[in-house]
Amino acid sequence: MSEPRSDAFVFFGATGDLAYKMIFPALQALISAGELPMPVIGVAHSGMTLEQLRERARKSLQEHGGVDENAFGQLCRQLQYIDGDYNDAATYTRLSQALAGASHPLHYMAIPPPLFGTVVQGLAEAGCARDARIIVEKPFGRDLASAKRLNKMLHDVFPESNVFRIDHYLGKEAVQNLLYFRFANTFLEPVWNRTYVDNVQITMAENFGVQGRGGFYDEVGALRDVVQNHLLQVTALLAMEAPTTHGAAAVHAEKVRLLQAMRPLRPDQLVRGQFRGYRAEQGVAKDSQVETFAALRLHIDNWRWAGVPFYIRTGKCLPITCCEVMVTLRRPPTAVFDATTARESNYFRFRLSPDVVISAGTRVKRAGEAMQGQPVELVARHQPPQGESAYQRLLGEAIHGDASQFATDAGVEAAWAMIEPVLDHGGPVHEYDPGTWGPQAADALTAAHGGWHDPKPEQTPPC
Ligand code: BG6
Repeated sequence: MSEPRSDAFVFFGATGDLAYKMIFPALQALISAGELPMPVIGVAHSGMTLEQLRERARKSLQEHGGVDENAFGQLCRQLQYIDGDYNDAATYTRLSQALAGASHPLHYMAIPPPLFGTVVQGLAEAGCARDARIIVEKPFGRDLASAKRLNKMLHDVFPESNVFRIDHYLGKEAVQNLLYFRFANTFLEPVWNRTYVDNVQITMAENFGVQGRGGFYDEVGALRDVVQNHLLQVTALLAMEAPTTHGAAAVHAEKVRLLQAMRPLRPDQLVRGQFRGYRAEQGVAKDSQVETFAALRLHIDNWRWAGVPFYIRTGKCLPITCCEVMVTLRRPPTAVFDATTARESNYFRFRLSPDVVISAGTRVKRAGEAMQGQPVELVARHQPPQGESAYQRLLGEAIHGDASQFATDAGVEAAWAMIEPVLDHGGPVHEYDPGTWGPQAADALTAAHGGWHDPKPEQTPPC
């Protein structure tokens, strides 16, 4: 049965940073695609007028992707604005009046998590939560206990099927292709297991620091900011079993099973780092022990993956900005030709951002008499960054009630359970120089499997 389409879009935090950077560009794109034929209602407590919000929207678009005058004009006609205190019942009374005629509103919490409870309660009391959907932004709590409290608070008002936890990584073209590529092809399945896979590495590198977000980041750190969510979600898509039916529930069930099979992390499986200069950032404690780099080895205790290390590495101020997955296959049992086969000669490489690349690493014979080889990469897909943004895609899916690419209560809790043991006992934080691949201590983690694979700038293949 298809889900009813939402018929009003409400976003709390309309004058905030997230709306400015992500939501207005996504709304313009959805309008341009004919996907948003409904009232768009911004809510915030800023003293702005509707006209000022429209101006802010225009500025946001000028800075983030450009103004499409037709779509923007339409957005301005659909846009309404409620300026009010989230603690004041009158704010929700005005919202319920603006929602008259809508049966399935979609509420987006683009606000700091401490305000979620107040807003959810306000929506419930004003009758705005009935048959409504809610989108919440990460962080989904800061540990297992707070994630459970958040889930309970949401469930007191919204059934799980109406809760959409946005993890923008799941809206990326390449991340969706990961799932598609795995299960739309037969050739992968026979090798996608402990018999053939030597190790898996996921590197999410950024060549910039905290970009003025020091105050936020120093409360969070790399593990909470991107590992618990984006990178464990990517791991789940890489390693999960095939869903048995179409639809969100089957995908969610397999992802949760996989996340639950991850062995809780021990401190000796984690190396934390902090780039030199981080403590001088605005909003960061002078003696901060928060990690801007994390490298870890995780194990999945199930039939398919037992014994295969999954290495995850992320950091700020690394040499490059990109996210890449490397699935390295075991070497051939004997070296029939070349005396040594280069590490990573047989692999699958998924570049998740900024480009989209799916490729397989092979060895072929070099022309000439000698039986000597060279590595050749077979590229199945190479696409420069383009197209729909993750936010456009995910908001469009939420409007249609399709939750497949959203995080679930059980999945979020399983991911917290996996990293919980190291959250506050993760060992020392090692300093590293900006522009390097993090502290040397991280090298020991992968030493038994040939070291880290450092992603390189992507070369565009010849046409
Ligand atoms: C966010 C993190 O969730 O993801 C940021 O809070 C990080 O610290 C960002 O920079 C990376 O996302 P993307 O899509 O730019 O790779």
